[in-house]
Amino acid sequence: MSLVKGIHHMTVCVAGAQEDIDFQTQVFGQRMIKQTVLFDGRYAHYHLYYANANAEPGSVYTTFPYGRVKGRPGSGQIQSTAYTVPKGSMKFWVKQFDRHKVKHTGIKERFGQKFIRFSHPSGIQLEVIEDNADKRTGWTTKEVSADVTTRGFHGPVLSVREVAETERFFVDALGFKKTGKEGAYHRFEIGDGGANKTVTLLHEPDRPSGSWVFGAGTAHHMALEVENDEKLAEQKGIYEELGYTDASEIKDRMYFHSVYCRCPGGILVECAATVPAGFAVDEPADQLGTSLLLPPWFEARREEIEAMLDPITVPEGNLPKGAKKVPLPAPVISSATPASGASRRTEAVFVGGDGSQKKKKK
Ligand SMILES: [Fe+2]
Repeated sequence: MSLVKGIHHMTVCVAGAQEDIDFQTQVFGQRMIKQTVLFDGRYAHYHLYYANANAEPGSVYTTFPYGRVKGRPGSGQIQSTAYTVPKGSMKFWVKQFDRHKVKHTGIKERFGQKFIRFSHPSGIQLEVIEDNADKRTGWTTKEVSADVTTRGFHGPVLSVREVAETERFFVDALGFKKTGKEGAYHRFEIGDGGANKTVTLLHEPDRPSGSWVFGAGTAHHMALEVENDEKLAEQKGIYEELGYTDASEIKDRMYFHSVYCRCPGGILVECAATVPAGFAVDEPADQLGTSLLLPPWFEARREEIEAMLDPITVPEGNLPKGAKKVPLPAPVISSATPASGASRRTEAVFVGGDGSQKKKKK
């Protein structure tokens, strides 16, 4: 039996932070659930999280606004991320995208399901795909009502130059089953399959490789959900047993613990186990995403980090109904090594922490 339950989150690099927030929350109707920073590297970058109404893994889309470096789209990359929407909502989405001048493909079909692919302002590709079997609760906004909103992920589409070895990785190392082929699309599903349990490979043998660096307009990695830290360690053991020895150490990502392994086709695949309190570990569940949160090991350097970030505004409508927007005190969380033994980067020399980096950009 597979250790993987489904998709946990998807992570991409966008360009501007405010542009991303406006698109995700206003045009696409997502709930912003976390403002934090990228935990790696010398430059401070936001790490912004969006999700469905219940902030569930399987709907969590995270972005690094990374306007300072441009990525190159290509093969060996996540090409798009599909979200499920109810049957009959395609007309709404075509209108919504047209109204906001969002580039889109119109209504297409894959494995009998209607979908629309559309472009985020940074060039990142997203999709809405019809699936009535998905009963998760979508977030609603003034523009995106309950009958049309996204429920969570259906799954990513990965561009690969060759299928065979990536297929072996998803089947042997992660427990997916191949359930369909249609033209250049190869479909893999885990467990019962369907929404949030589907990964689609798109065979593009002649497409030049895309970049692997953090770069605006390209996806960085996909994450699959495992139940807990023990299963995460077990998954790392499976990788090593099969010869995927370059699986990473277990990393502490504050809201979950992670192991990364790059698949043969070039896409970085993370396995993630959510910590018991999930996204409410450092702010109340009804205040998610309303203020910048730093991990305890960076909290003492808040001023230096904030000086490197552009100010952002989260729309009022992003708070759950009845919740009041309140300023939050800095979170107090033990900085002791977590029980799982997950590693943390606790030291960093930030470049431009005096704000000079921001001044240079202007
Ligand atoms: Fe991740």
